[in-house]
Amino acid sequence: MVRIAVIGAGRIGAVHAATVARHPGAELRLVCDPAGDAAERLAAEHGARATRDIADVYGAEDVDAVIIGSPTPLHVEQIIGSVGAGKAVLCEKPVDLDLGRVDECIAAITGQEHRVMIGFNRRFDPTFAEIHARVRHGEIGPLEQLTIVSRDPAPPPTEYVAVSGGIFRDMTIHDLDTARFFLGEIVEVSAVGQRLDPAFADLADYDAAVTTLVSADGAVATVVNSRHCATGYDQRLEAFGPRGSLEAVNHTATAVRHSSAAHSSAAGPYLNFFLQRYAEAYSLELSHFIDAVREGRPASPTLHDGRAALVLADAATRSATTGERVLLSSTATTRSHS
Ligand SMILES: NC(=O)c1ccc[n+]([C@@H]2O[C@H](COP(=O)([O-])OP(=O)(O)OC[C@H]3O[C@@H](n4cnc5c(N)ncnc54)[C@H](O)[C@@H]3O)[C@@H](O)[C@H]2O)c1
Repeated sequence: MVRIAVIGAGRIGAVHAATVARHPGAELRLVCDPAGDAAERLAAEHGARATRDIADVYGAEDVDAVIIGSPTPLHVEQIIGSVGAGKAVLCEKPVDLDLGRVDECIAAITGQEHRVMIGFNRRFDPTFAEIHARVRHGEIGPLEQLTIVSRDPAPPPTEYVAVSGGIFRDMTIHDLDTARFFLGEIVEVSAVGQRLDPAFADLADYDAAVTTLVSADGAVATVVNSRHCATGYDQRLEAFGPRGSLEAVNHTATAVRHSSAAHSSAAGPYLNFFLQRYAEAYSLELSHFIDAVREGRPASPTLHDGRAALVLADAATRSATTGERVLLSSTATTRSHS
């Protein structure tokens, strides 16, 4: 049994706490959040202890591993603190918004990086994972093009956007990791940002973007993002090769289709947002982490995968700002081997 503390009792912390509580190989022991009674409320739902003080997490002898779901600027100090206290870590994306801080983190825990997994949950989505496995198996031949569409139903609050690090580091970073997962080393990044909503222009951010990535093998990934989508949470992916394509379509709650004189094959709405669409991915991500902790082996995606995705997000931000194609050195985003 792996005994777990969840750090941060907000949106994603609540998902992780519930996922841990349901998992047969894990026990939720502690929830930590300094804000009001957030920790108490989440802990009470799952029969765990609560604290407002991170030192209690580091000092807890009945905690083997932590899941960090606090705001991004706290991730690095909490990774370093947790690893220093002998805990394994599953940390939410992104590791940090600043590459220098990520490098400080890697340096601070040198020799212990294998104890840290980064929460790029989409690698564990069964649909995307199946496409990945079938591409690797050679079913469509060498991958030539990958197209990822990722649109949120509605923009986050302005206060969130203001500290998010921009669309590429906050939102596109999931897709940049997925692109690396499929394509391996990326050598070139171009991006165009769109300011369709004046609120984003006021924050010097974009609310939509198209990013193009070229791999060392010459395959091209296109990532299409928007902070709004009238049709709901739009999460699609297509892998294309010389012998065919593999496609992930949007998920609906059931497979029922309605046809009438007015329309044909109408389905229900897409699953509402990430909590619903990726529920299974969070659970499989946790299983991977727990197995790694139990067996004392490295979990993937790694801290280096987290760094590589941020390198790509920084390059996309630069390209969108300057209009240039950003060329990357051969070691910047090399594929993780695990
Ligand atoms: N993988 C995913 O699908 C996914 C989805 C959402 C968010 N995230 C990431 O998770 C992180 C949190 O996002 P969120 O949307 O849950 O934010 P949130 O604001 O809903 O929750 C963050 C929580 O952390 C708490 N907190 C603040 N300071 C803390 C501290 N010192 N120690 C412990 N807790 C502290 C806050 O009080 C809040 O309850 C971000 O890094 C975000 O990028 C990932």
